[in-house]
Amino acid sequence: MKELLETVVENCRDSWRQGHVATYIPELAKARADATGIAVWDLSSGLSGAGDTDFTFTMQSVSKVVSLALALSECGEEKVFSAVGMDPLADPFNSIMRLEMDAPHRPHNPLINSGAIVVLSLLPWKESRDRMAAVSDMAARMTGRKAVAVNEAVYLSEKGTSDRNRALAWFLKSVGNLEGDIEDILDAYFRQCSLEVTCGDLAVLGATLAADGTNPVTGERVVSPRVARVVRTIMATCGMYDGSGEFAVTVGIPAKSGVGGGIAAAVPGRMGIGTCGPALDRKGNSVAGLAMLRRLSEELKLRIY
Ligand code: DON
Repeated sequence: MKELLETVVENCRDSWRQGHVATYIPELAKARADATGIAVWDLSSGLSGAGDTDFTFTMQSVSKVVSLALALSECGEEKVFSAVGMDPLADPFNSIMRLEMDAPHRPHNPLINSGAIVVLSLLPWKESRDRMAAVSDMAARMTGRKAVAVNEAVYLSEKGTSDRNRALAWFLKSVGNLEGDIEDILDAYFRQCSLEVTCGDLAVLGATLAADGTNPVTGERVVSPRVARVVRTIMATCGMYDGSGEFAVTVGIPAKSGVGGGIAAAVPGRMGIGTCGPALDRKGNSVAGLAMLRRLSEELKLRIY
């Protein structure tokens, strides 16, 4: 496996040139655009990695998988999916227009920004600190780490340039679809996006979902098989945003991207995969990550469709 991953990285090392690091969150613009790494947690043989496996980056939208898994476990499917939909969206992840145009102004799915903000609002913890502690604890349990820390510089940068997410949240409140203290909920959202990981962490997170909710590193049952299946399904249909359809055809596995450059993927019953590469395409997906996953999926025949 290690040799294969090294070849995959070698073949995809230059793809970062076709993308650009995110700049709308100023701190993300400082990332090394050419970092390229991949890790696989194979459920029968464990961890392998190649390339920039020590490179750290913030989870950004990959964290939405964590809060979704937590909300499904704590509140149940009925409550979550009456507040947010489960359908893919052909618009960008932070689209305001779609939310306003489509009555009843319910976010299309839990993995776009408006959906993730609503998901956080459903959690049963009232205090911002407790809500965030529960999300970072879930991130630690899914990645098999003792703790996953917030990158304070990214958090502050994100909070300082958050007009669009604020607009989404306040619009949702205005139509009665977001309850609670908006500033508190947004604060937890900025913090969860700023949780810092490596591609190895994302491989374990993916493997936890691939193994029906049991973390293969710690042996802990983190979520139920049903929650793992629902999360994988939402990743498969909505995880790569408006690039989800093309990704389903070219790679064919449930995955979730983030503008920090990470992608976490789960191949049911087989493996979790984590990639990093901060240069993004126009839809906000890592170009190196897409290239590596496409290659690996072909080599190992990973597609589930
Ligand atoms: O709220 C935002 O815009 C970012 N914190 C997260 C967006 C993101 O990662 C979209 N993913 N590709």
